[in-house]
Amino acid sequence: MEQKENLFYIQHPLIQHKISMLRDKRTGTNEFRKLVEEIAALMGYEAFRDLPVELAEVETPIEKCLTPMIAGKKLAVVPILRAGLGMVSGILTLVPSAKVGHIGLFRDHETHEPQEYYCKLPVPIEERTIAVLDPMLATGGSAVAAVDFIKARGGRHIKFLCIIAAPEGIERLHSAHPDVQIYCGCLDRCLNKDAYICPGLGDAGDRIFGTR
Ligand code: PRP
Ligand code: URA
Repeated sequence: MEQKENLFYIQHPLIQHKISMLRDKRTGTNEFRKLVEEIAALMGYEAFRDLPVELAEVETPIEKCLTPMIAGKKLAVVPILRAGLGMVSGILTLVPSAKVGHIGLFRDHETHEPQEYYCKLPVPIEERTIAVLDPMLATGGSAVAAVDFIKARGGRHIKFLCIIAAPEGIERLHSAHPDVQIYCGCLDRCLNKDAYICPGLGDAGDRIFGTR
């Protein structure tokens, strides 16, 4: 994993291979969904490396021992609707007891700016590590708005997990919220005139849910 102050590019062959399969326009909904779930789990494994642990007493069949367990309040997972939903099950395979919030945003087709339609977060949120999930970080507008909502409700320890990012999105999110740790599966070349990532994978929400 290559790291620059709060930017983590996960360069793992399994993730790279699965992202290449996602990009293929012949990949159908069923396979696309499975790949998003698998990539999310692999990314979560890297992103949760720094979760705090504390020693707990456990009795094995042989003897009692002190052994590490995840410390503190349960993790919160917050997908950005719709496409972020596709990553939730992958993360929950790693952390089944995580709480799940939802933020509903869609991009206005003309302005490309995010419009909010839903926000419900686990409470209390202040002490939790919060993993915001969205496969695509394009202009960064949706990510910045999602982090704004979470911070306005008291969230502080935020990780943003995206499968593919454009440089424009990384720059916008990192400038607006330098404290947020951004985990990215692949950094693509640029945005096109419709603010889609190039080469990207197309519309993630439509490909996960089989719409359009
Ligand atoms: C997509 C994607 C992100 C957003 C990224 O969602 O899932 O949320 O675009 O673009 P941005 O970085 O320029 O804000 P979209 O608005 O298409 O909604 P959907 O998931 O409901 O399809
Ligand atoms: N949202 C998507 O789903 N894909 C893009 O390329 C950009 C934003």
